[in-house]
Amino acid sequence: MALKWKEQYSTGVWWQDKQHRELFDRLGMLLDAMEHSRIREDISSLFEYLESYTIRHFSAEEASMERTGYSGRRAHTAEHRRFVTELAALRSEFDEAATLALLIKVQRQLVDWFVSHIGNMDKSLGAFLRAEESKHEAVVVNC
Ligand SMILES: [Fe+2]
Ligand SMILES: [Fe+2]
Repeated sequence: MALKWKEQYSTGVWWQDKQHRELFDRLGMLLDAMEHSRIREDISSLFEYLESYTIRHFSAEEASMERTGYSGRRAHTAEHRRFVTELAALRSEFDEAATLALLIKVQRQLVDWFVSHIGNMDKSLGAFLRAEESKHEAVVVNC
């Protein structure tokens, strides 16, 4: 299954987009490996990378929400936690048995989550961060 980042997912914040592209690529690689029944260890290390990169990305977004006092940070962070839990559950399911049903579940839960989270919460955060940034730029210009 080809999973590609599209321009429509852009939040307008360069580092968010860069990290989202990486997440899309890695999730795509995981789905591809699962679909074509690659070596178990390879799939396992793809899961591992996705888990650690997700945590790194979520931490970056959460730090930016804290720094700017973003009002939606609680709900946003809760969604991140939900994803981390889902990903860990899917990974342990994979450790038990790699089945077609699991592949479909990964596709449905993770891909849907990504697309919907980026399209809603991350885009709102991106718009807020861009507005904050332009305020600071305005202050610098006015000085
Ligand atoms: Fe997010
Ligand atoms: Fe994000």
